[in-house]
Amino acid sequence: MIDKLYNTHSLDKDELIALIRENINGIDNRLLEAASSIREVYYDKKVFFRGLIEFSNYCKNDCYYCGIRRSNSNAQRYRLKKGDILDCCASGYELGFRTFVLQSGEDLYYTDNIMVDLIDSIKSKYPDCAITLSMGEKSYSSYKKYFQAGADRYLLRHETATEDHYRRLHPDNMSLSNRKKSLYNLKEIGFQVGAGFMVGSPYQTIENLANDLLFLKELEPHMVGIGPFIPHSDTIFADENAGALDMTVLMIAIVRLLLPKALLPATTALGTIDSLGREKGLKAGANVVMPNLSPISVRKDYSLYDNKICTGDEAAECRYCIEERIKAAGFQPDFSRGDYIGMNIQS
Ligand code: 5AD
Ligand code: FES
Repeated sequence: MIDKLYNTHSLDKDELIALIRENINGIDNRLLEAASSIREVYYDKKVFFRGLIEFSNYCKNDCYYCGIRRSNSNAQRYRLKKGDILDCCASGYELGFRTFVLQSGEDLYYTDNIMVDLIDSIKSKYPDCAITLSMGEKSYSSYKKYFQAGADRYLLRHETATEDHYRRLHPDNMSLSNRKKSLYNLKEIGFQVGAGFMVGSPYQTIENLANDLLFLKELEPHMVGIGPFIPHSDTIFADENAGALDMTVLMIAIVRLLLPKALLPATTALGTIDSLGREKGLKAGANVVMPNLSPISVRKDYSLYDNKICTGDEAAECRYCIEERIKAAGFQPDFSRGDYIGMNIQS
């Protein structure tokens, strides 16, 4: 099955389920090696850096798993102003970052006009940088405005590709079909698009994971964010177990083989459940890291799950910490824009 996946980049649902079952109690080294070698065909040993700016933790949604859900009255809410965000970009640029990821909850305070002005200002100042947005579901016309203002990429995890599982993780006013529609809209508009899911979220089954993999194969996103679910103490899932390291690493390896050219982050959540989690993700085929550029004063407030790493004063410059760790793990830090391979970039 590993050979088939390596050669054809595809498996059917039963095969995916069998592959997951076979590797559940320890991942076959040949699978990890296959994933790693496919990554090297396209991206060598490069690991791309993205500077993450968490610009608001207000959210109109109430996803059951998320620490910044609307109904969490313990969350200390903040919004960064344009000047704050530009300051983050300035220090990020100094540190060598050429991609800025602007992430927030679904916060209606940031109207289309505010976003267009912000994107335009960042692009005028840093024409050599890519802008990635990660601010949830918006209308086709909003997405289009952001793209026309110069945003290059958009991250919107699908969270789970199984209808009934989606409904158990989200209130009734959210739907998997809307989420999928948004992803297809983003692709149509011309964004490099990132989907993705949590591993080990409550009620998740192996079949659900197989559905996630099949959906990714169908969508063919340019990026895929995969991280373990981690409970947040102020949510109804406070007492649930976190997702497992091995299962998360396995999913990264399979996605690398299904989508050879994808940009796959070794996520902060993976680094949170295991001190060497990000390194293990890289060895399984991940090739992106997203150090935090948010002001230290708000970092602890962007709390999607408990015990998130890199939120204290000591993490002021994650860039250097991660760079050293990447080198020590045998990879090559890369500070270029790091676009999807074969993408024609307009500047
Ligand atoms: N554990 C892990 N990941 C989470 N996310 C939200 N809440 C949690 C949690 N408790 C993820 C979601 C979202 C991304 C920004 O963070 O997948 O899309
Ligand atoms: Fe943030 Fe190491 S990556 S402190």
